[in-house]
Amino acid sequence: MRKRFHIGLGILAAVILICGIAVGISILVCNSGLAVHAYDIQIKGIGQPFTAVVLTDLHGKEFGEGNEELLEKIRGQKPDVIFSVGDMIDGDADQAQVRRFLELLAELRKIAPVYVSYGNHEKAYMSSGGTDLAPGIEAAGAVLLDESCVTAELGGNKVCLGGTVGHLYPFGRTPEDYHASPEYRLMKQMEASGLPTIVLAHLPDTIIFVEAYKNWDIDLFLSGHTHGGVIRIPFFGGLYAPMQGWFPDEDMGHFDYGRVQLLISSGLAGHGKVPRVFNMPEVCVVHIS
Ligand SMILES: [Fe+2]
Repeated sequence: MRKRFHIGLGILAAVILICGIAVGISILVCNSGLAVHAYDIQIKGIGQPFTAVVLTDLHGKEFGEGNEELLEKIRGQKPDVIFSVGDMIDGDADQAQVRRFLELLAELRKIAPVYVSYGNHEKAYMSSGGTDLAPGIEAAGAVLLDESCVTAELGGNKVCLGGTVGHLYPFGRTPEDYHASPEYRLMKQMEASGLPTIVLAHLPDTIIFVEAYKNWDIDLFLSGHTHGGVIRIPFFGGLYAPMQGWFPDEDMGHFDYGRVQLLISSGLAGHGKVPRVFNMPEVCVVHIS
């Protein structure tokens, strides 16, 4: 009996040790590596297929000097357009971090046209005394979509392309306040465009919460913010996503809600001091046809 107990204890200790080593190796790999995840998405009205790279949640991280490793991975995808979908810097970013972000945009612009929308962290940075990011983004040659839209030529297709932080449902506001909000007006403007519509919306709660997707006539939302659940449990999914909480259903990937489609990139960095585990930083590639 005593012998069996000791064997059981030994097996348990070995399992814990193996799991610990696997987690440790994964943290090292996920701290420096980069994975390419590709998706195929069909949108009505797109005549010529094109390729977009979606970047999000870099949080000031650097992949090689001057982000050269990240740039090299993106060049390899030969994108027609690059979308920077928010939280590329931290809310408390210093000047060096902001400069790195703007330099990255300038390098991306040498690869393809670049469109930028803000995440909650860029907004926090600017509202807490940081410099206005808009002039630097425009000087880098990128187009800023700050609760606004443009008619963009993407791979030979005319598309109504918009950018918003998110919150596309009342979220505690009165109907009057909600209908007067820049994000609500933006959606209505885009719906009326008569063109295929793509929205860079950092927060995917735009779609997920209270089945907000039922309210919109938009073809595709591109989001981030979830960090893929930060720590991914093999064969199960993400552990935690900001706003969705523990064991999020929509942690990363493509979600087809019928009229509306949502693509969530798991992004490039960990969440605060929590490292990514079994969750490689992602260069998200979308083949749209
Ligand atoms: Fe975020």
